[in-house]
Amino acid sequence: MLFEAISVIPEVYGSYVDASILGRARKKGVFDFEAYDLRTWTHDRHRTVDDAPFGGGQGMLMKPGPIFEAVQAVGAMHEEKPHTIFFSPCGKRFDQAVAKRLSHEKRILFVCGRYEGMDERCYSLADEVLSIGDYVLTGGELASLVVMDAVVRLLPGALGDEMSAQDESFSDGLLEYAQYTRPAEFEGMGVPAVLLSGDHGKVAAWRRQSSLERTAIWRPDLLSGVELTPSEECIVHAVQEREGQDGCTA
Ligand code: ADE
Repeated sequence: MLFEAISVIPEVYGSYVDASILGRARKKGVFDFEAYDLRTWTHDRHRTVDDAPFGGGQGMLMKPGPIFEAVQAVGAMHEEKPHTIFFSPCGKRFDQAVAKRLSHEKRILFVCGRYEGMDERCYSLADEVLSIGDYVLTGGELASLVVMDAVVRLLPGALGDEMSAQDESFSDGLLEYAQYTRPAEFEGMGVPAVLLSGDHGKVAAWRRQSSLERTAIWRPDLLSGVELTPSEECIVHAVQEREGQDGCTA
């Protein structure tokens, strides 16, 4: 998959994209990435990309001219038409389901705004506008890195172990179960005995229960999208009753 980003600070991407798991996946050819400087598509001496809003008000807006030119020019660099994503706190909330959908694209172009926002007409270029959460960032670059990171790790060959993207949080609509590694005793804290038993059936049952308990405590909103057996409903109710009294222990 090819990711591209148009930004006024294209230099921020390199260290993240080339480090660790993303870096390895890129070297392996799982994905490629190119960042373009929006100022390339300005025509004045100061390489201006922003202007004051009509109607007054504080802050500056990204001008439509350079963004339209950049999206058109970058789009034409390859035959495959890019899936073009803009970022805004007003966008659709990015989540694991969106990451999964995007992992089937061949080419994704991120258009990152800075300052107080963009001239509204720019969004006519977007296939979709995404928000990574209900808070305001200084620009779309971090949001685009979040989206790229979450998508890349779903691509075949990105993670060393093909299974490791299957068991994790949100993959079955629940949070991931609690996990432990050596030592079995640490600072007076043990590990649930079933995990040391070697009984795969019991381990799987314990993990499902752990997922349910953690979801009931931390993200009860997720439970409405998950089908539970009657005994799983009981687990959830028990946790919620206990939660009311003695806080989080899962
Ligand atoms: N730009 C500014 N804030 C943002 C957010 N929360 N998500 C995506 N893009 C943004």
